[in-house]
Formats: sequence, C-alpha cells, structure tokens
Amino acid sequence: MLYIHIPFCDSKCHYCAFNSYTFLHELKEEYMASALKQLKHDIEKYDIKKNSLDSVFVGGGTPSTVDSSLYKELFLIINSYIKPNAEITFEANPNSATFEWLKGIKNLGANRVSFGVQSFDDKKLKFLGRAHDSKEALLAIENAKKAGFEKISIDIIYSTLFDTEEFLNKEFETIKNLPIEHLSLYSLTLEENTKFSNTPNVVNERDEAYSHIIKKAKDIGFFQYEVSNFAKEGESSKSKHNLGYWQYKPYLGIGAGAVGCIKNIRTYPHKDVKKYINEPLFKECEELKTDDIKNEKILLSLRYEGGFDISLLDKKEREKAELLKKENKIIIKNSVVFNKNYFLADEIALFILS
Ligand SMILES: C[S@@+](CC[C@H](N)C(=O)[O-])C[C@H]1O[C@@H](n2cnc3c(N)ncnc32)[C@H](O)[C@@H]1O
Ligand code: SF4
Repeated sequence: MLYIHIPFCDSKCHYCAFNSYTFLHELKEEYMASALKQLKHDIEKYDIKKNSLDSVFVGGGTPSTVDSSLYKELFLIINSYIKPNAEITFEANPNSATFEWLKGIKNLGANRVSFGVQSFDDKKLKFLGRAHDSKEALLAIENAKKAGFEKISIDIIYSTLFDTEEFLNKEFETIKNLPIEHLSLYSLTLEENTKFSNTPNVVNERDEAYSHIIKKAKDIGFFQYEVSNFAKEGESSKSKHNLGYWQYKPYLGIGAGAVGCIKNIRTYPHKDVKKYINEPLFKECEELKTDDIKNEKILLSLRYEGGFDISLLDKKEREKAELLKKENKIIIKNSVVFNKNYFLADEIALFILS
C-alpha cells in the first residue's frame, strides 16, 4: 500500500488538525519533485516489487489543489508497481476538483475519488469553515461521474450543533440520490490548535445519533463495515486501502508528515513542508514493540467487521473475551472475535487487554 500526502489547502476548516497549509501554494512544484525523490528512494530501500501494490491513496490536505499534470511523474513510476486491479484513490474538495482535474487524474490511472463534502446544508458548511457550498459539492460528484469514475465516496461530518435527527434525515435524503457507493460518516471531534478547540459547545455528541445514522445509512443501502465507513452491498464498494490499514498491512508513506509502516518499523518524515522539500529522504524511525503491535491490531480489528483471531490473546485475556461473549457484546466464531458495536471498540479493547 502507498499513501501520498498533499499538504496544501485553499482554506483551513474550523475542525481540522491535519498537516495542511493555506499559505504555501508557491511550493507545490518543489514539493512534488521532493515527493518523487522520496518515492524512488523508498521503492528501492524497501525492495518494493513490480506489480505488488494493492492500493494507492493520495490524501491531504487537498490533492485537488495540485494540478493533475504535477502528479504525472509520480504515476509514471507508481503504475509499474501496482497490481493490475489496484485501487487508486484521490481525495478532493468540491471547490477545486474541476472536471478537467478529475479527467486529468483519471488519465493518470485513478479509479476512485473521495470528496470531502461534510454537509449538504450551506449554513452548516459555513459553520464548519468550508470553502464550498452544497451546489458545488453536487456538481463535483456529477463531474466525477462524467469523467468516468465508478467509485465515488463522500465524507460527512455529524455530531455538530446542527445535527438533530430531523436535520440528519435531510442530509440522508440528499445522499440517497447520489451516484456514490461509499460513505464516510465522521463524528465531529475537537482537535487541539483548531478554531473549534476554543468553542467546545459546537459539538453535540449523543449516543442516539450513532444508532440513528447506522439506521438511516442502511435505509438508503449503505452498510457499516467500520466505525465511520459505510458501503453499498458487495466487497468492491469498500475501500481496499482503508481495509489494508485495519488489517495491519505494510504501507509506504510519501510526503510531509506521511507516516509509513514496514516490517514493524514506523517512519516519520519531516512534517514541516520546507524541511521536507530540503530533506525528503529524512525519516525518524520507531521500532514497534510486540505488545504495542498486538494491542493496536486488536483495537483496529474491533473497529471494523474483520475481527481478530483469538490466538492473539493469552489465557487471562481469553477468559475476559468469553465473559464479553456471554454478555452478548462480542461474537466468537471459528476462533475469530467480532465486535457487535464498533463504537464500543475502545472500551472492549481496554477491558480485554488491561
Ligand atoms: C484528510 S481529511 C480532508 C480531506 C479533504 N481535504 C477535504 O476536506 O475534503 C478527511 C476527512 O476527515 C474528516 N475530519 C477531519 N477532521 C475532523 C474532525 N476534527 N472531526 C471529524 N471529522 C474530521 C473530514 O470529514 C474530512 O473530509
Ligand atoms: S478538512 Fe480538508 S480542506 Fe479542510 S483544512 Fe482539513 S484537509 Fe484542508
């Protein structure tokens, strides 16, 4: 798996703590050249074989702020390292993902696009600090379809002050008619160093909201397969790349602050864009301890439908898992432990592992 980080954005949303900047646009060309250097170097260093990558994810920041032609050299290389049926996703924002941009990335090999929509209500979009309105979001989705994308996903944020049941029902009414097969529904979290971190009352987190969104998503044909991810029926609707993370597959991280993890070594390139441009091959390395890997694997598995093999647990932990099974909180089938409510993943992991 390969992740490429694009740290540029047109504006900073009030909730967002991702490594992204609105004032570094003039560095795009140099940045892409450094990403190319890192890609070439890492392919060799980690001995990545031709036709071996299952998925590529270009995320951000906002990949659609970078002209599609600036991805060309990266993809000349990437295309010989991916499997024939690899999933290639670009994240995009409705205000910058023009038809030409979408066509451009399609020509490079992209076959999936993930739009940050967040809401179809203009007041909520403004409150979140988004640079687009609802009309632009609908147009971007339509343009992606016209450009030939069969796999389109959108991100929606809920648990804001706006999100009463009635309000969310309206969002789902709009989503119902879209030509998309994947939906990420994120509960608003307050992140440090964001505009919202000083106004905690913007969050309206209610337990009922979780069951409500699961039901509404199901009513319009989207099934939950991870705590925040929903897909239409069929394996191919799910995000191969995200499934890879939850299954603890190795991945390369290219770009400023793009974490990678290969052979139990987690790598951290410079987060600062200028430092990254000057030293794209620099990485801090962290060796993961066996116990940390086990705990992480269990936590990730409890957040999605795949579950984990019970052989990961020691005797005492298995007894606790059996207890949870009796209480009907988890299912154990053919030695695999499945979570029944992904929103309780943290609590269940803590109970089993402590
Ligand atoms: C990498 S981010 C943004 C991608 C793209 N730039 C955009 O805005 O559409 C991916 C998604 O994370 C979600 N997200 C980011 N910060 C969040 C927060 N504090 N709470 C909930 N969701 C968040 C948003 O839905 C966003 O679309
Ligand atoms: S949500 Fe997307 S567009 Fe908004 S600041 Fe974060 S990365 Fe940029």
